Amino acid sequence: MAAHENKSPGAERQLQIYSEAAQGRLPAFPVSFVDLEERARAVIDPHAWGYIEPGAGSGDTLDSNQEAFLDWEIVPRVMSDVSSCRLEVRLFGTTLKSPILLAPIGLQGIVHAEGELPAARAAASLGMPFVLSTLSSKTIEETAAAMGPMPRWFQLYWGARRDVVASLVGRAERAGYGAVVLTVDAKMLGWREADLAHGYLPPMRGEGLANYFSDPEFRRTLPKPPEEDPRAAVMQFLETATNLELSWHDLGWLRERTSLPVLIKGILHPDDARAAVDHGVDGIIVSNHGGRQVDGVVASIRALPEVAEAMNGRVPVLFDSGIRNASHIVKALALGASAVLVGRPYLYGLAINGEEGVRDVLLNLLAELDITARLCGITSVQELDASWVRAI
Ligand code: FNR
Repeated sequence: MAAHENKSPGAERQLQIYSEAAQGRLPAFPVSFVDLEERARAVIDPHAWGYIEPGAGSGDTLDSNQEAFLDWEIVPRVMSDVSSCRLEVRLFGTTLKSPILLAPIGLQGIVHAEGELPAARAAASLGMPFVLSTLSSKTIEETAAAMGPMPRWFQLYWGARRDVVASLVGRAERAGYGAVVLTVDAKMLGWREADLAHGYLPPMRGEGLANYFSDPEFRRTLPKPPEEDPRAAVMQFLETATNLELSWHDLGWLRERTSLPVLIKGILHPDDARAAVDHGVDGIIVSNHGGRQVDGVVASIRALPEVAEAMNGRVPVLFDSGIRNASHIVKALALGASAVLVGRPYLYGLAINGEEGVRDVLLNLLAELDITARLCGITSVQELDASWVRAI
């Protein structure tokens, strides 16, 4: 969102909402995260909700991802000229309009008939990178087609078959994805109580496997194509989905297969960040998978400062898990993140109102970020550093 002299996109959105209210039309779309979550819950199938919202185990990390933001307070500066406030950031040689990306969320078909396409379109309309999950309901190519030339990254789950991994990465590169995000905190599925209670595992019925079912390498070893025998295709996926042996040394192999920047998602320890960079990755995403993988692990925001310090600018550090509002973004950037990824909030927007719903979530977040930044005396998010926050 480019800022113009004395023109705040945040204030414009505010004014638009107040003006419509003055004519008797209150915003149809929820503004607060609490309302967003409540509305989403009302429209999402209860079993799907049990997959989406909770954290692993008893949800301690899910909760602390939020609470931990209170460990820091923003210290605003006043009386600086904020007639211009730049939200742009530069990552891997390209300029992003804002420091916000859409986190990879698999299986979006469980909340919307068009799967990932509405969120991808909404992201494209705002110039925000959409990170497509390996486990998506629509394919790499379908999603790319929905986005035109707008920025997108591909999130990789590295299973037991290298031929399939190489094929997926090659497809992403050919389809114009600008980076590969290797998620490393999900070698296995976390212990998810609601899903266990419901016996709910969508890939079991083929959901989220579009990239596999359309993959030539995956199809090559099936007795019959997935269209004729979906059961056998699902079984082949389940047998090869995990790769417990995967270690740092494998990164060299991936590096050789793609010229795209490779980011590692799911880093919480500074030593792991150092190891990742020593093995050739181009970026780090500090994340605990939205609290969905290991209950009791450190809140993502508490892990960020040490990782950022260890990186000391060697590669960009991105952040996710728990971003719900603009103050969270300001704090993450101040603590060393170059950009943040947002997860559940946009999925809730998708469930409530498809592409428009995702746009509303993102536009509200952008508006709030613009307003928060200007009110804090920030003229460019790139100037954010630890001097803007105070630890409690
Ligand atoms: C995820 N996440 C995820 N991550 C990933 O690398 N590949 C994936 O396929 C998925 N799938 C997925 C499904 C659902 C329903 C959720 C909620 C999350 C994790 C995601 O990328 C991100 O790390 C978290 O969602 C960020 O936390 P918040 O913003 O949801 O708190």
